Amino acid sequence: MGMDPYEWLPMVKAKMAGTSPLLAPEQLQSFVSYYFDRRDIYLDVLKTHPAPLYLQESSVLRARAARMKRAFEYLLPEVAFYFAVKSNNHPHVASVLIDEGFGLDVSSGQELESALFLGAPDIVFSGPGKTPQELRLAVSHAERVVILMDSFGELERLGPLAAEMDTTIRCGVRLTVNPTGLWRKFGIPMTDLPAFIDAVRQHPRVHLAGLQFHTSWNLSPAPQIAFIRELGEMLAALPAEARGPIEFIDIGGGYWPEQGEWLQAAGTPEGRLRDALDLPAGGVDAHFHLPSTPIEGFADALSGAIRTHLLSSVSCRICLEPGRWICNDALQLLLSVVDKKAPDLVITDAGTNAIGWERFETDYFPVLNLTRPSLVEKPCHILGSLCTPHDVWGYTYFGTDIQPGDILMIPTQGAYTYSLRQTFIKPLPCVITL
Ligand SMILES: Cc1ncc(COP(=O)(O)O)c(C=O)c1O
Repeated sequence: MGMDPYEWLPMVKAKMAGTSPLLAPEQLQSFVSYYFDRRDIYLDVLKTHPAPLYLQESSVLRARAARMKRAFEYLLPEVAFYFAVKSNNHPHVASVLIDEGFGLDVSSGQELESALFLGAPDIVFSGPGKTPQELRLAVSHAERVVILMDSFGELERLGPLAAEMDTTIRCGVRLTVNPTGLWRKFGIPMTDLPAFIDAVRQHPRVHLAGLQFHTSWNLSPAPQIAFIRELGEMLAALPAEARGPIEFIDIGGGYWPEQGEWLQAAGTPEGRLRDALDLPAGGVDAHFHLPSTPIEGFADALSGAIRTHLLSSVSCRICLEPGRWICNDALQLLLSVVDKKAPDLVITDAGTNAIGWERFETDYFPVLNLTRPSLVEKPCHILGSLCTPHDVWGYTYFGTDIQPGDILMIPTQGAYTYSLRQTFIKPLPCVITL
């Protein structure tokens, strides 16, 4: 039976009124100024490499890696970092992070092959549905790969394989953070852990040495802390001999960059509702902001919870699998304007196949006209050249004007863009590394 309209109408009304916080103009201006101040660096690259480009900044990656390590290393007795390759699978990114002392977190045989090829000395292999070939590849590199098992079925496939290969493989098991909805596909329910530990005893070549969980899109440490508390209660209730072998607890990734999430009106709950009602989503000049926590705040709160709830009953290494937080700021997209079809409509050389999804219809990132810089934001449809209307870079730009030949930059596109790129209609931009 549906809900009574008298109940849901006030909810609709409240949502339509719009409660999403606005992005503070000072925050936006300081972000834009920072990149305009570096304009010469970017324009210099274009003297030798024409747009469109993915421009990777190694120094940004290195600084992020160092800052994350610094944040956690002082607060936890033993901590290890694994870069989540899925967030940006360019080999240079992984190479820089290996050099900074990170391990790699891979989620497929393909990512594992690339991590092995790059010489990563420490690799965790997580993800559901690992194929027998993928498991075989992992076992044949057991000296540097830890398999984070995803299910009882995977254990039953891995055990005989490791026995046949006469190799002991170090493993962890992933715990489901949300047993309902689509997240249930990851890991085993926490309540099944004692049975899993028993099942592992049937497989002498599988060495269960740790636990893993991952929560995504954390604007604050609260979701991770909630699970850490639950895990702590469960661990405290386990017999000591079951806890003894736990050498590591991997708390996953999901740390949101501190600038927070910036949204177009269409990306807010009220915008989605307006869309469902066939109403215009809202003005292009309003930008919304879901604030996040600096990594030091994550480190402080998580370390406290880890010490209280986990290290009180298990003495082990804590592993982290950050992706987005590390690579987000390290890649800038450079495009050029090909056509100006109206005072407020331009078409760029590249299409959003370069980032692989319709990100900018809902997410807001400023488009900077590097050729005609200005801190004034002007309305203009900035669209790509794919034969689809869902090829949007933005609805405004920062500049004095916009004309064919102008170079546009969309900063901080390093996470879940390059690795989602598609060969669709237009060629992909070249990657240039600074
Ligand atoms: C198991 C696992 N670890 C780490 C990550 C990285 O998450 P993020 O890029 O949000 O830090 C993901 C992302 O989906 C994941 O599934």
